[in-house]
Amino acid sequence: MNLDFYKKIIENNKAWSNSKLAEDPEYFKMLAEGQSPPLLWIGCSDSRVPANEIIGAQPGEVFVHRNIANMVIHSDMNMLSVLDYAVNILKVKHVIVCGHYGCGGVKAAMGNQSIGIIDNWIRHIKDIYRHHRQYLDSIINENDRFNAFVEINVKEQVYDLAKTSIVQAAWKNGQELYLHGWVYGLDTGIVKDLEVNLKDNADLDKVDRLTI
Ligand code: CO
Repeated sequence: MNLDFYKKIIENNKAWSNSKLAEDPEYFKMLAEGQSPPLLWIGCSDSRVPANEIIGAQPGEVFVHRNIANMVIHSDMNMLSVLDYAVNILKVKHVIVCGHYGCGGVKAAMGNQSIGIIDNWIRHIKDIYRHHRQYLDSIINENDRFNAFVEINVKEQVYDLAKTSIVQAAWKNGQELYLHGWVYGLDTGIVKDLEVNLKDNADLDKVDRLTI
């Protein structure tokens, strides 16, 4: 077993902690007192899309949930618990769903290869392909179609967020809460705002609006 990487990250942690303390001896004491992040980030587990780092956010500024292909699944207790805590306790003002081009989960959903348990998670992404089959199948270039699917998947997750009882109750109560969809370019380091910015349920289908 190669322990070099493992040893290195422990040393990195000490060095990082020391550098923070050199700037401000009270830094960790201040953080330990509590958090009040303005943003909930729902992103992909992909190691190349670190939430804080790509938006220059400091500890305490972003509440984070990540899973494969940045999905908002209505029955996912993990996601629902994070969302509920972020909206109702932390009172975040913004929720960003951030996908990324080249997403392995989205790519897998375009194919037929069985990978394992993840096949079941990817079913949700395949459902989105089915909803948008006509448009996606019309894109001849496979990479362009892949990129378009990544974007559509993010937009659908933003709408799925809006459909949750948690978000609709917050809006109904007049809470200021904005939902956004982004896609990050692995090869550029730049995020694209998909301009699916929701602040109330006006854009939702009638059937998706809850009377709370
Ligand atoms: Co991904």
